[in-house]
Amino acid sequence: MDDSPLQVLTLPTAPYPDQRPGSSGLRRKVFVFQSKRNYLHNFIQSIFSSIDLRDRQGSTMVVGGDGRYFNRTAIGVIVQMAAANGVGRLVIGHHGIMSTPAVSCVIRKYKAIGGIVLTASHNPGGPDGDFGIKFNTSNGGPAQETVTNKIFQLSRTIEEFAICPELSVDLATLGKQMFDLENKFKPFTVEIVDSVESYANMVRNIFDFAALKEMLSGENHIKIRLDAMHGALGPYVKRILCEELGCPANSAMNCVPLEDFGGQYPDPNLTHAADLMDTMRGGQYDFGAAFDGDGDRNMILGKHGFFVNPSDSVAVIAANIFSIPYFQHSGVRGYARSMPTSTALDRVAKATKIELYETPTGWKFFGNLMDAGRLSLCGEESFGTGSDHIREKDGLWAVLAWLSILATRRQSVEDIMKEHWQKFGRNFYTRYDYEEVDLDAACEMMEDLEMFIVDKSFAGQRFAVGEKVYQVERADNFEYSDPVDGTISRNQGLRIIFCDGSRIIYRLSGTGSTRATVRIYIDGYETDPDKVFQDPQAMLASLVTIALKISQLHNRTGRSGPSVIT
Ligand code: G1P
Ligand code: ZN
Repeated sequence: MDDSPLQVLTLPTAPYPDQRPGSSGLRRKVFVFQSKRNYLHNFIQSIFSSIDLRDRQGSTMVVGGDGRYFNRTAIGVIVQMAAANGVGRLVIGHHGIMSTPAVSCVIRKYKAIGGIVLTASHNPGGPDGDFGIKFNTSNGGPAQETVTNKIFQLSRTIEEFAICPELSVDLATLGKQMFDLENKFKPFTVEIVDSVESYANMVRNIFDFAALKEMLSGENHIKIRLDAMHGALGPYVKRILCEELGCPANSAMNCVPLEDFGGQYPDPNLTHAADLMDTMRGGQYDFGAAFDGDGDRNMILGKHGFFVNPSDSVAVIAANIFSIPYFQHSGVRGYARSMPTSTALDRVAKATKIELYETPTGWKFFGNLMDAGRLSLCGEESFGTGSDHIREKDGLWAVLAWLSILATRRQSVEDIMKEHWQKFGRNFYTRYDYEEVDLDAACEMMEDLEMFIVDKSFAGQRFAVGEKVYQVERADNFEYSDPVDGTISRNQGLRIIFCDGSRIIYRLSGTGSTRATVRIYIDGYETDPDKVFQDPQAMLASLVTIALKISQLHNRTGRSGPSVIT
């Protein structure tokens, strides 16, 4: 073997205009990364360049990915570029796989300056699927907009990148690998780690594992079924739920990470986790859950496939928060939800006199509140739930939280949910997604809609469908002023709030990889105890009609219906 130090090269490149990170990093079709020369290199260099050289030199960074197609290729390039950009140590998941929550946990554990997460979350994988790159900062959470804007600016003017083309790491072997580089005094270190162990150590200190083990594997144990959908979470589910908490092997399905997620969308909802739903309907399991590709999302099901809406899920966890030892010790500082998430959480916050924050979509807004010690528990309607133990949403944490509630209350998921609605009222909730809509048509519709609803004459207007009459209380384009640092985020979604607390929200997605996705969120509030058990789609039909009428969405986009209803 040749021991001469590895060459560090600076190579010329030309910028791309379209590397603006969305709500969750840069997401594109795999072929874009493969076919556009240096597309990956440019973005990675822009990430490194966005970090002040003094902070970057000799620093530790974490790299993880959900294991999708192109993950290993990208890690190979990132390692070569990290070394050439002065990073001292890279901590990488075994085989290059690390769930998003585990990346957050590992960044915090190693006091890294940040991390790169290679995931397109719940989007399909494989050569024809999506790939994504997200940058997290030292708090373990997604970079704030000031940082992502800086990355974008750098990507628009980039002229060269630094790389050690001969450097190659072995992702399959745990432990340290050292490399001597030309013109560098210290060797560059790569550490391949067992992130499952780090994550397990963390959750062991949050939940009462003895009580969970008793419920899951003791006498009269309950039966659970968890679907990792061939994403990154499989090894975590196996190790923590099966090996440590004693669940039988049939509790865990699709736990081998696959580059194409077995050809399915690794998306934990009723459409894509249909297999789990079918199994749950059979009635032999008491509790079910599915996770997305990178393990930050979760869907909770009860026996016979009883569906827990994610907006309700976070509200139930809040209402039962002291079932979780972590909160018994740390206390509860505040709750938060993204603006489109139903207001179910607000009602628990109000009843328990805890501060409630309403933030724009995306986890990064929660991170600031958590760092300032103002937030303990939060959630999004898009199957995201989490707490201040890390700075990402955390699918497995949500499952352990629900199991803790079951262990304390000894009731079924359905009974817990129904009692909750009787006590707090029910927020019926649905989301309509119109995917791959023409971008200009979508933007123009949003602009016209904004003009229409912010007009003074709009407040007070009544909309009637059948017997139901909804009167507008107020409407706006949601704007958020961060209570910690005062940053203002504008244009975060159009909202119409009715006098009875019901809401209609319109938003353009920030995570799509092609064209535009229009989302309509319908949140209908009902306190009549006789009505809280009715079917959500039936209960919301009038509000849906109103939402479509006001926006003229079908006319404007040429669509006759949504691509997905959640
Ligand atoms: C979607 C969800 C949002 C979530 C984000 C990242 O973003 O709606 O709640 O934070 O994915 O997982 P969107 O496509 O709506 O911008
Ligand atoms: Zn995800």
